[in-house]
This record gives sequence, structure tokens and C-alpha cells, in this order.
Amino acid sequence: MAAVWRCMLALVVLMCLCSWGSTQVIGGAQSRPRPQRRPRKKPKVEPIDVIPPAQNIDIERMTGIWYLLNTASKCSYLINHGTKVEPTVMNLTRPADSSQTLSVSIKTRHNHQCWEILQVYDISPTPGRLTLKGPRPELNTDIMISDTDYDSYAVIFYQKRGQITLKLYGGFLK
Ligand SMILES: *[C@@H]1O[C@H](CO)[C@@H](O)[C@H](O)[C@H]1NC(C)=O
Repeated sequence: MAAVWRCMLALVVLMCLCSWGSTQVIGGAQSRPRPQRRPRKKPKVEPIDVIPPAQNIDIERMTGIWYLLNTASKCSYLINHGTKVEPTVMNLTRPADSSQTLSVSIKTRHNHQCWEILQVYDISPTPGRLTLKGPRPELNTDIMISDTDYDSYAVIFYQKRGQITLKLYGGFLK
């Protein structure tokens, strides 16, 4: 009798092992707790902070006329329109009444019409950093002069709502 029980027990153990083994193979997820998915980290949208200014930018020496040579961005408009840039002239001046701002006049063409866009950039204490205030803080444009020789070229990053645009300016008449 004992031998029969032992045999039954062995059979039960074997069946258990088999079913455990098979669920392992067919669908381990059924018998085991699901591995908990880690909450996805939100990508940081501040790469402009990662790109340090190449030098101690002297804003005074940035004033004058700059020509837009090229623009790079992941923005779909620019991707669809290629790198063709409308002739654009940027005139940077320091207003006499404020040491903390930079006056910007941008003359460009849009829909076969000429436009002059007038803007005021706030000068940040960090060299090379400027801000174009939007109607709300999240609509601000952070501007960073990344590299320039003050004379023939300037590389400027613009970041608005996490979208970065890079503009290369030339200063032929400077
Ligand atoms: C640039 O702006 C300043 C100040 O408004 C002005 O005096 C100067 O004539 C402008 N330069 C050009 C080339 O438009």
C-alpha cells in the first residue's frame, strides 16, 4: 500500500513539474508575476542647455547687420521647404535707454511681400544668452549665440516650446 502511495505521490510531483515546465515554455507570464514596466522617463527638452556657448560672447560686438545664410530645424515646415531661406537681414542694435536689452530688426520676405519684424531680446546674465518674451513664459524663445567671430559668421540657436532651430548668419558688411 505504501508503495502505491509513494508511486501516486511521485506521479503528482511529476505532473506538477510537467505542467510548471510547460507553462514556463508556453506562457511564463501566466504563472509568474509580470515584470513591472518601468515608468518611461520624460525626455528632457532642454538640449540648448547642453550646448555651452563656445566663448564668452560680447553682446556689444554682435551689433550690426547679419545675413541669414541657412537654417536647420526638425520643424516640419523647414523640412518640407528644404533649406531654401528667404533673403533675411537682421539688424542688431543696443538701445540707448537699456543695458539689458537688444533691439532686433529682421527684414525678410514672406508670400512675396517684404516684412520688417521688430523684436526686443532680454539679455541674460549668462553670456550669449537672450530671451524673446512670449505672451506666456512657456512661449518664450530662448536664444543662444553659440559661436561667432563677430565679423563674418554667427551660429545662433533658438528654442521655443522644446523645438530647436539653428541659424547661421554671415556678416559681409560688418
Ligand atoms: C540698423 O538699426 C539702426 C537702429 O535702428 C539704424 O540706425 C541703422 O541704420 C540700421 N542699419 C541698417 C543697415 O538698416
